[in-house]
This record gives sequence, C-alpha cells and structure tokens, in this order.
Amino acid sequence: MNEQLKVFLDEYVPRIDLYLKKLLFADRVGVRLAAPLNDAMHYSVDAGGKRLRPVLTVMAYRLLADDWQRALPVAAAYELVHTYSLIHDDLPAMDDDDLRRGRPTNHRVFGEAMAILAGDALLTEAFRLLADEVEAGPDIVVKLVSGLALAAGRDGMVGGQAIDILSQGSGQGKTGKQSELLKILHRRKTGAMISGSLLAGVDLAQGDASLRSRLAEFGEVIGLAFQVADDILDEVGEEESLGKDIGSDRELGKLTFVSLFGLSKARFKLAELHRQALYLLEPLGEKADGLRALADYIVERDR
Ligand code: IPE
Ligand code: IPE
Ligand code: MG
Ligand code: MG
Ligand code: MG
Repeated sequence: MNEQLKVFLDEYVPRIDLYLKKLLFADRVGVRLAAPLNDAMHYSVDAGGKRLRPVLTVMAYRLLADDWQRALPVAAAYELVHTYSLIHDDLPAMDDDDLRRGRPTNHRVFGEAMAILAGDALLTEAFRLLADEVEAGPDIVVKLVSGLALAAGRDGMVGGQAIDILSQGSGQGKTGKQSELLKILHRRKTGAMISGSLLAGVDLAQGDASLRSRLAEFGEVIGLAFQVADDILDEVGEEESLGKDIGSDRELGKLTFVSLFGLSKARFKLAELHRQALYLLEPLGEKADGLRALADYIVERDR
C-alpha cells in the first residue's frame, strides 16, 4: 500500500472501527434474550475488513467539508450492509465458504439460522443509523435512505447476487452476451455499494449535481475494477493475506472476469479501468488525492 493512502487510512479507519464496535445493536430495553444474535452481528463486523466503503463515504464527504466525523453514521451504515452481504454470501446456499476476514465464517460459528438473522439485523440496523444518528435535515436523510436502498437492493447488490447465482456454471465460452452479463453482474453485486457509498458522502455534504455524476461514474469504474481484482485474487491470491477462501469461483463455476477472459486479459482490463478512474478525478485536483490513492490500491491490492 502506498504511503499516502496509509496516512489517510490511519486517520479514518480506527475511528470507523471504534464507531462500529460501540454499536449496541439491540437490547436497548435491557433484556438480553437474544445475546447470541448480538454476538453473531459483532463477530463479523468487528472482524475488520478493509473498510473500503466507509472510507469512500468519508473521502467523498471530505471533498466538500472538513468535519468528516459527521459522516461516521452514514459510513457505518454502508459497512453494516456490506458485512451482512458477506455473511449471506458465505452461506451454504450461496458460496458455501468457511473463512472470512481471517475467521471461520459466521454460520460456521453461530449456525445457519443465527447467521441469516445476524445479516437481516445488520441490514435493518443500517437504516436505523441513517434515520436516527445522522445530523442532517429530513430531506438529506431521505436521500441517504433512498441511496442505500438503491445500492443494496433489487437493482443493486442483491440483484447482482441473484445474477451471480443464476449464472453459476456458465463461466466458459465467451459470447458477447456473456461478457455483457458479466459487466451487469459486477456493477450490481459490487459496484452499486461502492458507488452508493461515495454518493452518500456527496449527498450528506450537499454536493452539486456535477460532482455527483462525476463520482457516480468514478464509483462505477472502481467498483468494476474492485470486482475484477477480486476475481483475480480468487484465482491467484493467498488465503492468509486475503483472509477468505480462494478457489471458490472455479469450484462453483462462477461467471467471472477470469473464467471468461483468462488471467492476463483480466489484468489488462484492470489496468484500463485504473487509467479511467484517475482520468475522472483529474478535474478535482489535489483534494482528490485520497480517492486517487484508493484507486491505486484497488488495482494493486493483495487482500
Ligand atoms: C468482498 O469485499 C466482497 C466483494 C464485494 C468483492 P471486500 O474485499 O471489501 O471485503 P472486506 O470488507 O475487506 O472483508
Ligand atoms: C460477493 O462477491 C459480493 C457480495 C455482494 C458479497 P464474491 O462472492 O466474489 O465475494 P467473496 O470473494 O466471497 O468475498
Ligand atoms: Mg458470491
Ligand atoms: Mg463469495
Ligand atoms: Mg470473490
């Protein structure tokens, strides 16, 4: 990771981690009837992870304002939805994986029922954070709620996950149709939450339409790049640094950039997306240095 990005991450990530760790999740009425559910929720949230989405929210907010800690509840909401998506993604009915964020997957520890419920509760809690914890007027809060719903739902992450499952076993044979499907799949399952987290930062800081559309495009590009890198890492990454199972895409016959085009073309695509991302940031000047460093990291990462 480059030095510049490290400076940004050292400022933001500990605060994001602390904010997430302090979330009580439940038992506000003082009854600890569902303690295993809280434990299952915190088990996955506190396991760490790169915190890419909350960092994007903070960085986008910071393009317009300095008091970045105001963006923490919004940033956390995106991380909670992302964590829920990982818990469900690992379930036996989906990718059936055993390792996540360097730990046994949620259902391996708490059982499938509790893992499903922990995911459900994290998703719900994210919307509560937006409604209760964001210091902003109702018009902005409504925009944030609608943005997260769009990123996470039928036309975003969940829709993408459905395409991922339905296209299982169709990873070979490059028809034009397959490659179009792959782009839609990656844009939805990964790109939507990445774009959404950036736009949430802009919306909280009341950025104008032109910044919004520039960052939406930047998010699309780095979101796609992020999943292309993920596909490459599933094939050639190290389980230890990644903290999750490798080889599951191949095992399940997933439609990925690597299965469709091979490793070297996938790497070429990644480099092209990287250039595109940097180009989109050019007009923003120095204040976009954090986003620039993050775009570099997305294509170089090994975890
Ligand atoms: C993994 O996301 C799932 C994808 C969308 C590719 P991350 O690679 O951001 O996972 P964490 O949050 O660092 O664990
Ligand atoms: C999952 O994509 C994206 C999500 C919405 C969670 P993958 O299935 O490729 O993610 P990993 O490789 O298990 O992290
Ligand atoms: Mg998956
Ligand atoms: Mg998976
Ligand atoms: Mg993957």
